Amino acid sequence: MTIYHEVPQQVRWHVSASADALAAAVAGRTLELAHHAIERRGAFTIVLAGGATPRVTYELLRRAEAAWSQWHIYFGDERCAPPDDPQRNSWMADEAWLAGVPIPRSQIHPIPAELGPEQGAQRYTALVSDIVAFDLVLLGLGEDGHTASLFPGHDANLAIDAADVVPVFAAPKPPPFRVSLSARRLSRAEHVFFLIAGADKASAVQRWRAGDSMPAASIRPTAGVDAFVVERGTSS
Ligand code: 6PG
Repeated sequence: MTIYHEVPQQVRWHVSASADALAAAVAGRTLELAHHAIERRGAFTIVLAGGATPRVTYELLRRAEAAWSQWHIYFGDERCAPPDDPQRNSWMADEAWLAGVPIPRSQIHPIPAELGPEQGAQRYTALVSDIVAFDLVLLGLGEDGHTASLFPGHDANLAIDAADVVPVFAAPKPPPFRVSLSARRLSRAEHVFFLIAGADKASAVQRWRAGDSMPAASIRPTAGVDAFVVERGTSS
């Protein structure tokens, strides 16, 4: 099996002194990219990250001015739980941001993971397969180097011929059943931002910088990725 590496991964590291500074940097860049995409072609497609780290960024976006009617929201992964379950990534994004801005609900596309891994993946494939490249993909990083719901040991989801959307079983991070965009699909993007905060990520960041293989290192868009990381004791 060929792990996805059409181009070597280029990582630009952006270090912030706090989670709030990281959120401000990511929110600012996201709004800039949206403005330019909408100016160029009247639409902005963004894939949202799950987990807890993006919440502060989402709360800043909720308070921002933007051409919201031209935003199109997708999700990088989802936990198999009912749509109104607080453990859902779509629930957190809605509560922190989306419910507070006038993005047409028809332009917000949660992953139907409540249908289960296989059916959820099948349904979402139809939705994303005709998008050549997302304008922006937001991703988190797990302590083991996972991103979205792409976990170490599940190499098929990192493979160069993986489907766009994959079912995930036995995820080491609860809940075990999930749906995720594959490394290949997440890499088909103009920009990819990783949002990384928490002392528990330091070892994964160190291994990534040292060139170790891990799911996060399999995200390889042509233009490279931007990794926003909190490292105490820095200035910005
Ligand atoms: C999920 C996420 C997952 C997350 C990382 C980091 O569904 O859990 O997609 O990939 O981004 O585990 O999570 P935290 O931001 O909570 O540390």
